[in-house]
Amino acid sequence: MAPMALALILGWCLVAASRTQHLPQPSLSLHPSQGVSLGDNVTLRCHVPLPAARVRLYKDGCLSSEKNVDKVQDTAEFFLVDIKQEDAVKYWCQYQILEPLWTSNMSDPVELRVTDHSYPPPDISLSPDECVKVGMNVTIQCQNQKYEGIVFLHKDGHSAPVQHQEPDGGGTATFTLFAVTPADSGTYRCSYRVGGCWFLFSPLGNNVTLEVTMTHAPPGTPKHPDLTGDTRGPHWNPVTAVAGGCAAAIVFILLLVVSFLLFARRQQIQRDESPGASPRSPNAVQFQVPPGDCEGLTYAELRPVTPGTCNPGPSAVPEPPIIYAEVGTGRPC
Ligand SMILES: *[C@@H]1O[C@H](CO)[C@@H](O)[C@H](O)[C@H]1NC(C)=O
Ligand SMILES: *[C@@H]1O[C@H](CO)[C@@H](O)[C@H](O)[C@H]1NC(C)=O
Ligand SMILES: *[C@@H]1O[C@H](CO)[C@@H](O)[C@H](O)[C@H]1NC(C)=O
Ligand SMILES: *[C@@H]1O[C@H](CO)[C@@H](O)[C@H](O)[C@H]1NC(C)=O
Repeated sequence: MAPMALALILGWCLVAASRTQHLPQPSLSLHPSQGVSLGDNVTLRCHVPLPAARVRLYKDGCLSSEKNVDKVQDTAEFFLVDIKQEDAVKYWCQYQILEPLWTSNMSDPVELRVTDHSYPPPDISLSPDECVKVGMNVTIQCQNQKYEGIVFLHKDGHSAPVQHQEPDGGGTATFTLFAVTPADSGTYRCSYRVGGCWFLFSPLGNNVTLEVTMTHAPPGTPKHPDLTGDTRGPHWNPVTAVAGGCAAAIVFILLLVVSFLLFARRQQIQRDESPGASPRSPNAVQFQVPPGDCEGLTYAELRPVTPGTCNPGPSAVPEPPIIYAEVGTGRPC
């Protein structure tokens, strides 16, 4: 059962590995990948894992440009000059080899996110804005006035927005950081998305700085918060519990195996040492004689075993002698 399952899994892995080996996907990257504004130039690089003949760039699902590459190149570059609103879309690339003629799958898409400085940056506010202690809830509000797009909360040092949400009717998005820890300290800003179908964004607004202090944890938080800063009980407790449980289970199984081995070993030693009953000595054979045998005789075939010789050579036993014993039932017919 287990070997069969193992073989199945192994087989599946091999098939999966050979599939991806035969159909390698290209990968597309954007340079620069962030902080692109209208009017900038960007480069899209398509990395091909095999010597390819042709590389194609797809823009928003449609073929946008095609390049022949020679066999030594593993990258094709596409230049986008003077970025416009309609360039702020998704891009993919694909390559083709000629012998045999074969076209690869598309790469994973890349979003060209562009900042449009003609939109005003959103306003930001922090509450409470000082004396924030571990375990408190903090709200950050961003105002994008009449522009309805989704509002993004950015934190310095993070390339992607940390949160996003639809603003309410008044253009306000309220982000809550529950039970803050020192890890939440940092500088926050907002932006919002404009222009429905394009990846077009407002500039980042003013910053607010959150500083979470460790003194006197409020009720409901651990008395001695973990100094690593990861004090969010509900976040690390289950993980620790699961890890602890697994470790305990492994230790328990190990103990079980070791004690079983020790027990088996002791049994073995006892059996080897027990006097009188030397193992492998010819056992007494008991016969169940059927009663009422007409001849009054029963013939039983006994195979003699030479005691003491554990391993007689093949020549030592040319023909095993057969002993016939006569057993009288003492009851003539
Ligand atoms: C290529 O695309 C096909 C169909 O969409 C998919 O089944 C296959 O897994 C893809 N191959 C790779 C390497 O992504
Ligand atoms: C973009 O490239 C064009 C042509 O190469 C150049 O004239 C222009 O100055 C570049 N723009 C920027 C913002 O670098
Ligand atoms: C933080 O918000 C949660 C959910 O609204 C609430 O249950 C909790 O009491 C709040 N904590 C503090 C310290 O205000
Ligand atoms: C945050 O904004 C203030 C002005 O409001 C500025 O002086 C400060 O340098 C900014 N901090 C960062 C990290 O950009």
